[in-house]
Amino acid sequence: MDLGIKGKTALVTGASQGIGLAIARALAAEGARVLLSARNEEKLTLAVQAIKAGGGEASYLAADLNQPQTATRLKALAEQEFGPIEILVGNTGGPPPGEAASLDEESWRQAAELLFYPQLRLTRAVLPGMRERGWGRILYVTSISVKEPIENLALSNALRAALSGYAKTLAREVAADGVTVNTLGPGYTATERVNDLFAKNAQRLGTSPKELLAEQLAQIPAGRLADPSETAAVAAFLVSRQAAYLTGQAIMVDGGYTRGLL
Ligand SMILES: NC(=O)c1ccc[n+]([C@@H]2O[C@H](COP(=O)([O-])OP(=O)(O)OC[C@H]3O[C@@H](n4cnc5c(N)ncnc54)[C@H](OP(=O)(O)O)[C@@H]3O)[C@@H](O)[C@H]2O)c1
Repeated sequence: MDLGIKGKTALVTGASQGIGLAIARALAAEGARVLLSARNEEKLTLAVQAIKAGGGEASYLAADLNQPQTATRLKALAEQEFGPIEILVGNTGGPPPGEAASLDEESWRQAAELLFYPQLRLTRAVLPGMRERGWGRILYVTSISVKEPIENLALSNALRAALSGYAKTLAREVAADGVTVNTLGPGYTATERVNDLFAKNAQRLGTSPKELLAEQLAQIPAGRLADPSETAAVAAFLVSRQAAYLTGQAIMVDGGYTRGLL
């Protein structure tokens, strides 16, 4: 299926590895011109080279999303290289583990600076142009934790819920302008983030990452982790021309993990 995004300008953040990189690749494969961003310049260079080698169009900006000016720098660079941003995929790293009862205020502030404020700034930078042009796609990468909070991941559970509330509210405000706003919640996906979390949790629980992984897989009806390309394929559809009537939704890509009906 042609997703109708050939020639569109897309910004994908958190795109140096894992799910963000897979989404950037998927959009480039559909013919979008993709601006990738993250902090690690070496990884971004390799990612852009690989996309170009495959016939795609891509560029990058190495920047920290914690810096308030990053959003406006990304907007300006995209316009200079490709044109106004028509597709925003807001993705970042996950916060450290921790319990709601014991995390200090500074940890909450830092997590908000990672998970919430960058998305807000990126959106504020790109939304006016999208509304004026009558077409836009905004997709935030969240987590299955917005449906079922995950033990010892209080920062993720709370702040991604805040982002989801923002997305739902915004979706209704801008729907008539041709702009959709959705969130994508990955389930357990084979990336460095998940390796790191399993290692930390195994240490905390006095078990091995391998045993912990086996326990986790037993909870996933599909019986395996997702490959990032599977998550990216769903993301590509959510920002497609065909998904014009799909807005305000939280789509879980989780192999059947979450149990709730909605
Ligand atoms: N993998 C899973 O099983 C899973 C499950 C549920 C939710 N999620 C969430 O989905 C998102 C993507 O997951 P992932 O597994 O692909 O994570 P990942 O492998 O840790 O990748 C995170 C990306 O975000 C970038 N990043 C982190 N902090 C940044 C900052 N301050 N400024 C700019 N870029 C930053 C990283 O690049 P640099 O280090 O180069 O900046 C990297 O490209 C995360 O929020 C994660 O928590 C993942």
